[in-house]
Amino acid sequence: MKEKQKIRQKMISLRNNLSREEVLLKSNLIKDALIQMPELKNAEWIMLYVSFDNEVRTDQIAKELFGLKKKVLVPAIIKKPKGLIACQVFDFEKDLKAGFFGIKEPTEELKTPFDPQKIDVIIVPGIAFDIRGNRVGFGGGYYDLFLKKLNRKTISIALAYDFQVLKNIPSQKNDVPVDIIVSEKQIIRIH
Ligand SMILES: Nc1ncnc2c1ncn2[C@@H]1O[C@H](COP(=O)(O)OP(=O)(O)O)[C@@H](O)[C@H]1O
Ligand SMILES: [Mg+2]
Repeated sequence: MKEKQKIRQKMISLRNNLSREEVLLKSNLIKDALIQMPELKNAEWIMLYVSFDNEVRTDQIAKELFGLKKKVLVPAIIKKPKGLIACQVFDFEKDLKAGFFGIKEPTEELKTPFDPQKIDVIIVPGIAFDIRGNRVGFGGGYYDLFLKKLNRKTISIALAYDFQVLKNIPSQKNDVPVDIIVSEKQIIRIH
């Protein structure tokens, strides 16, 4: 879809223009807001993306989650059949190495798929969102495939810079919306 592609280009360019200081500052505000949320406090199993480029950073979130004795899962990309698996990790440095597209993934010996139905909270990345929870990703559809496998009770939380939250983005039938969006300025609970 042309319009999604336009949004991707514009948002990636805005994100690339952020300074390192802005990324760290905003990511820190988002982390503090996220950690305070009851949905996080009540969760045992939390899946967390591993940030790359200028995405909202997740390394300090992981650190806090380990400190809170939460069980942390990260995605690994599977090429065939195309999709993501959730793998438990115990350390965000030792247990990760660069994988597809340079995104860090769990090391080989940790690539055991965890049952998606048992995940309490999933924290997802994205390029753009709208106020109904619609999401534009990198264009691979990996999270759309994975979000379909979750339990009805699993809560999906997107992390975004506030400029990534738009009034309306086009969504197609395969797109799975998120339940909550957390930016450095607001928490949007959909419904
Ligand atoms: N549930 C699904 N089943 C099969 N293919 C899917 C599914 N969800 C997404 N895809 C594939 O992923 C591609 C990219 O999806 P898109 O929503 O544009 O990407 P993103 O969600 O990363 O922004 C789609 O063209 C489609 O082929
Ligand atoms: Mg999609």
